[in-house]
Amino acid sequence: MGIFRNLQSVVRFRKPQFSRTRRRFERAANIDDLRAIAKRRLPGGIFDYIDGGAEDEWSARNNVAAYSRIELRPRILRDVSAIDTSTTLLGQKTSLPFILAPTGFSRIAQSQGELAVARVADKLGLVYCHSTLATRSIEEVSAVSNGQQWFQVYMWRDRAMLRDILQRLRDSGYTALALTVDTAVLGRRERDVRRGFTLPPKIGLDTIVDGILHPSWTWDFIRNEPITFANVATDSRGAGGTAVSLSAYINEQFDPSITWDAVEWLQAEWNGPLFIKGIQCTEDAVIASKIGVAGIMVSNHGGRQLDGSPAPIDLIEPIAQLVQGQLTIICEGGIRRGSDILKAIALGADICAVGRAHFYGLGAAGELGVMRAIEMLKDELTRAMALSGVRKISEITRDLVKIRQ
Ligand code: GLV
Repeated sequence: MGIFRNLQSVVRFRKPQFSRTRRRFERAANIDDLRAIAKRRLPGGIFDYIDGGAEDEWSARNNVAAYSRIELRPRILRDVSAIDTSTTLLGQKTSLPFILAPTGFSRIAQSQGELAVARVADKLGLVYCHSTLATRSIEEVSAVSNGQQWFQVYMWRDRAMLRDILQRLRDSGYTALALTVDTAVLGRRERDVRRGFTLPPKIGLDTIVDGILHPSWTWDFIRNEPITFANVATDSRGAGGTAVSLSAYINEQFDPSITWDAVEWLQAEWNGPLFIKGIQCTEDAVIASKIGVAGIMVSNHGGRQLDGSPAPIDLIEPIAQLVQGQLTIICEGGIRRGSDILKAIALGADICAVGRAHFYGLGAAGELGVMRAIEMLKDELTRAMALSGVRKISEITRDLVKIRQ
């Protein structure tokens, strides 16, 4: 009896959780754990579309690995009893120094798709950048969120269609535009090639078997309305119900002949804050600063376009040395930890953008998973700030980091 009482005083029983996925989700400790849950929950082709990069995936891996070449130089014995992670972006307050980056096809991970991501951004006071290749429309997204929304555009061959989109964005209150410039043609994602990945996903014998092996995804998929490119689905020029591969779609619809003139054309048409998304060297950052855009997203599209392109974090300092203060510098790519955000800001980024991390959350558990991903990054950032001796974003300075040789 005595032994039992002693045991009782030190052992606490957890409430039993019978769903294995649920159990894994509750115990997830970081973004990598959410990725592992998404990998189990999603059919292989879907997970590979989200997780994969171009060709050998060197850039996709290097985007993440590059952060581990940067060491922190923490300061001690500073009062860190109150940490403030908020900052300003385009003159507006945002609760964390990152935005939720655009991701195409989000409904393939979970039926709420982009709506889930927009709701979380709104609840947490973050900017959400909605994607051209989204599976929920401009209007659907703005209907579920009072938060600040940006929109990512490609330069359509059909400029009239782009003008229509700009008008819809204005009508729905989107505040900024990000023009993707790293996708003159689609990068070759070899996992998608092998899987024959299309939107909507094609159903074949292999996908039926995969579907049976992933019942929670399959049930969600068949119970909900068909997946389309929602932003253009009602337009005869956009993809409706027919399955298309991403490369066929992009190479047909988007204009590979564009030059800097197109940026100026878009700037005049939009007449609002414009970001160039996909800057991959210092020279182009300088050109962008000269034509007076609101900002640049230093990005290689998550390593999904040109394999061999540099990790964004490695470009932040050289770019900041040339253009800091002239435009907003956003570091996008490879962020899996709160401390990665700290490093990017220390090297000169104004703010970061997080894409795959929230997409893994969506794939793991829908809106709950997106919320969990953002909270993980927030907790990690807050802790990293406290342990580094900084209380607010403006105190994150260059002397906080050292680049390892
Ligand atoms: C779309 O932009 C993608 O990277 O798949």
